[in-house]
Amino acid sequence: MRSPSALVQSQCFLCVLVSVCAPAAVRALPHALPWRVSCPARCACQIRPWFSPDSAHHEAPTVDCNDLLLTRLPAPIPPDTHTLRLQSNLLSEMDAAALRGLPNLTDLDLSQNRFSHVRRIAGGSPLASLQSLHLEENRLSHLPEASFASLPALQELFLSHNNLHSIAPGAFAGLDFLLRLHINNNRLATVDPRWFRALPRLEVLMLGGNPVEALPERGFLALKSLRSLVLGGMGLRGLAEKALEGLDGLESLSFYDNLLTKVPTQALRRVPGLKFLDLNKNRIKLIETGDFRDMIHLKELGLNNMEELVSIEKAALDNLPELTKLEITNNPRLSYIHPEAFLRLSRLESLMLNSNALSALHQRVMLSLPSLQEVSLHSNPLRCDCLFHWAAEEAARPRADKGPPTDAPAPRTVRFIQPQATLCSEPPELRARRVREVSSREMSASCLPMIPVSSLPSYVGVREGSKLVLHCRALADPRPELYWVTPSGLKLGPSRGSPAPCLAPSRGFNHSASTRQSDAPPCSPSKHYRLLPEGTLQINKVTSREAGLYTCVAENALGADTRSVTVGVRSRERKRRKAVAANLSGYPPLGPSVGLEAREVGERYAILSWQSGRNLPSTRLSWQAIYSNSHTPTYSTRVLAGTQSFNLTHLQAETFYRVCLHLGTGEGPKRGSRGPRDARKPQCVSFRTKDGPQSQPSLQLSPEMTSTAVTLLLLAIILLLLAGQVWDSELGEAAGTLHSTILQEVKSPSGLIISQKTERSFRHQPKQNEKLFIYQDF
Ligand SMILES: *[C@@H]1O[C@H](CO)[C@@H](O)[C@H](O)[C@H]1NC(C)=O
Ligand SMILES: *[C@@H]1O[C@H](CO)[C@@H](O)[C@H](O)[C@H]1NC(C)=O
Ligand SMILES: *[C@@H]1O[C@H](CO)[C@@H](O)[C@H](O)[C@H]1NC(C)=O
Ligand SMILES: *[C@@H]1O[C@H](CO)[C@@H](O)[C@H](O)[C@H]1NC(C)=O
Repeated sequence: MRSPSALVQSQCFLCVLVSVCAPAAVRALPHALPWRVSCPARCACQIRPWFSPDSAHHEAPTVDCNDLLLTRLPAPIPPDTHTLRLQSNLLSEMDAAALRGLPNLTDLDLSQNRFSHVRRIAGGSPLASLQSLHLEENRLSHLPEASFASLPALQELFLSHNNLHSIAPGAFAGLDFLLRLHINNNRLATVDPRWFRALPRLEVLMLGGNPVEALPERGFLALKSLRSLVLGGMGLRGLAEKALEGLDGLESLSFYDNLLTKVPTQALRRVPGLKFLDLNKNRIKLIETGDFRDMIHLKELGLNNMEELVSIEKAALDNLPELTKLEITNNPRLSYIHPEAFLRLSRLESLMLNSNALSALHQRVMLSLPSLQEVSLHSNPLRCDCLFHWAAEEAARPRADKGPPTDAPAPRTVRFIQPQATLCSEPPELRARRVREVSSREMSASCLPMIPVSSLPSYVGVREGSKLVLHCRALADPRPELYWVTPSGLKLGPSRGSPAPCLAPSRGFNHSASTRQSDAPPCSPSKHYRLLPEGTLQINKVTSREAGLYTCVAENALGADTRSVTVGVRSRERKRRKAVAANLSGYPPLGPSVGLEAREVGERYAILSWQSGRNLPSTRLSWQAIYSNSHTPTYSTRVLAGTQSFNLTHLQAETFYRVCLHLGTGEGPKRGSRGPRDARKPQCVSFRTKDGPQSQPSLQLSPEMTSTAVTLLLLAIILLLLAGQVWDSELGEAAGTLHSTILQEVKSPSGLIISQKTERSFRHQPKQNEKLFIYQDF
């Protein structure tokens, strides 16, 4: 038996795929015939099935002396022995004379012994028929020149799990027929291209588990016959463009468990025949546009177990006509797959996406895969609303497998793998329901943006002068727009056609925050900031001035979601490190005033504007009508980060109002939303709305319910009726969180449900009913 560790190694993933492990597996079959010879004491002599490296079956006279604590070769070994098993003994030297008497010895297993010098094995005497030599788990540390010259027929050589730290350039000289070489899990720090010159027929090379950080360019040029290359667990950080050059016959390639931060697209273009590719367990953050393009023979691709993967971008996989199986699983931060991530995958049948942080899979992904038969989505925080409508619709369809097949193109049914574990986690009323059992009637048809918690950490530390990259993604229907707000309050929105963002602090606003940023004039391309199409903010050479709170805002017609991240910049001079860290929380104090003003007052609206010069993501606006004779409720709304003006609508004419701006960082480091920062004194202004043409003392509700202000008023009235109590400012604040419920209920006239679940910590992902609905930016 092979040692289980050698077989079940993760590195064997690919050799299982291409069935190159099959001989080893077959060898384990317990199918033996008696062999009547004089057998060495305690050994077993039998005729056993044996498969040559090219899978030909033999009835092999086998002497099995495994696990006997032998220090010497036992005697007598029958002369016609074909297979000699000496695994797991204490041998450090072989009796060359004894081996010479075995002209038909084909397979010699010396794994798990104590060999420290390869010359002590055959002692220079040729073993002309030996095809397979197992030396795993010995104590070899060096392979000298022509180490195996006495084994001219060798086809398989297993040297994994030794202490090899050096191999002479010509160590493998004379192995003209070698097909398989395992030198994985040793201590090799470099790969020497000269090793391979002697191995023109090599088909399988396992090199993984060696501390090699970079592969040489054209290192494998000599391996014209190589079909499978396993480079797992090596510490590779990147791949030179020509690292794989010359591997014209390569079909399977594994980079399992390395430190790659990007898909090595350029290097992969040099191996056009690739069928199986394993990139599991790397540090890849994004699968970017064009990362896998035109790999016309690729059949299976694995992108699993990546701690840092957050997003699969548009056209990440494009024109892979043979791809049938795609596995993207167990990526704890993967929350976004672009609706057009997969293009021209005409034969993809199996899509494994379980155990990620996906809230949905866009229907366009499904529609773009004409051959899809099964999808695995369990163990994801699935949102059973608009984006998942297709799943409910598919479930409602009659099953295609009933009745005889017809020529009519039957609607395609995609099978869910583990449907009982594919559960909704949002919205709250559908939580823990099976996705397949939720009807499309129960799923809302459109949805708010939601920035997944996993995509953006709350703190990111970078070194001064390095590149800062912040990924923000949100799926919603209608498709959301994303923008960023910098610590200085600058709003970085997408600009059409150019990767540099348009710096637009606030449209219509005259003296914007950006006028203070001498290096960033408004609405001109900035080299400094780059906003990538899907919502990634990139700052190429970050300076300590850019430390602070960054907020990503995703908004669509229904509302918005925001998430903030604190960026700490470590100074290059070590001494100053502390100072910068300290400054993270020490925001410059706000000026004496943020200049809140009522810039324009109409009959029923007022435009408020202000400037803060800071990113204050938990800013609120509250307003109250002032009458001399009565106490009136206060309404309040959150204001989206980066917004510096607000159109307060549905006011009453001829009325005095007092409006206050409550500034808060909210999501600042180590501070809850109720920290002292939020208790800052609000800025207030008062004004009187204009006279109407005819005075209308009562509030008029517009039937479309488009304005949030009117919703608030309506809610306030209902709550007053229900509760029969006077509003205080707390309740007014609660109104800001409740209007979403109202908005939804207005659409489905089944009744009004008011929930007061308001867990108001902005450091958590806002719940569906805590989203920001009210804001006006003009
Ligand atoms: C080795 O194998 C050959 C062919 O199978 C056979 O003729 C020969 O007798 C064998 N030699 C010994 C020593 O058994
Ligand atoms: C903008 O500023 C200019 C001069 O600073 C002023 O003339 C103009 O009226 C301002 N526009 C608005 C809309 O406030
Ligand atoms: C920290 O902030 C203070 C005041 O805002 C400033 O004077 C000081 O230079 C800052 N220190 C560093 C290291 O940036
Ligand atoms: C503000 O809202 C009112 C009422 O909806 C509208 O008439 C007015 O044009 C708006 N002003 C701006 C600048 O958008």
